[in-house]
Amino acid sequence: MASPEAGTPAPAGAWRDTVEEHVEVGGRDLVLVRPRDSMALLDDDRFDRDEFLPFWAELWPSGAALARLVTGSDLAGKRVLELGCGLGLPSILAALGGARATATDWSQDAVDFTRANAQRNGVRLTTVVASWAEPGPLVDAAPWDVVLAADVLYEPRNVELLVGLLPRLVDGDGQVWLADPGRRHAMTFWDEIATTWTRDGYLDEDGAVPVMVERLSKATLG
Ligand SMILES: C[S@@+](CC[C@H](N)C(=O)[O-])C[C@H]1O[C@@H](n2cnc3c(N)ncnc32)[C@H](O)[C@@H]1O
Repeated sequence: MASPEAGTPAPAGAWRDTVEEHVEVGGRDLVLVRPRDSMALLDDDRFDRDEFLPFWAELWPSGAALARLVTGSDLAGKRVLELGCGLGLPSILAALGGARATATDWSQDAVDFTRANAQRNGVRLTTVVASWAEPGPLVDAAPWDVVLAADVLYEPRNVELLVGLLPRLVDGDGQVWLADPGRRHAMTFWDEIATTWTRDGYLDEDGAVPVMVERLSKATLG
């Protein structure tokens, strides 16, 4: 990492030891800054409080798969919301494609790194710290044209929260684009939304592991 300039405070917390990673998506070369070792960020107090784990601090295969869908889509002028943005790659690509992108996570560090990553790649986006358990600002700003979420179905509590939240974020014209690498608890999610959402999906095999990418639309009641 570059040494801080004289007079600037030393990097602290998750910024103390970072690396830059180059990511190629759809012919674009993007650079992401991230903590060198996400597991070094484990915080016992935070885990005791809400079982928080620093999963935001790396780019997961689902994030890369969702980024590939975003970069191959025309989102110009669309209002795009990302849930669980981590390092922010799909939101950054949406913004580069002309979308009005809002990247959100319950981790303050995640949204800080996402904002820094957007700047590094020459684009602006809105960032919001918001938990799916207290999604007030995200619901107030609905309906969104497209909601993005990558690798968010890894815990039962996430499934429960998202089954309730997603219908409040889009209307009949909107879509949720969800990427999942086959997490065990995702099966519960697909079962629970089977009658309320329609799925249009494909298997992305361009990354480290195969990832299902689904475009969800609200089912019209017959
Ligand atoms: C496995 S990581 C995926 C990160 C990124 N989407 C990717 O694919 O690289 C899950 C993300 O969801 C966020 N997250 C988990 N539970 C959340 C909650 N209840 N509310 C908001 N964000 C949450 C985590 O902080 C993390 O950034």
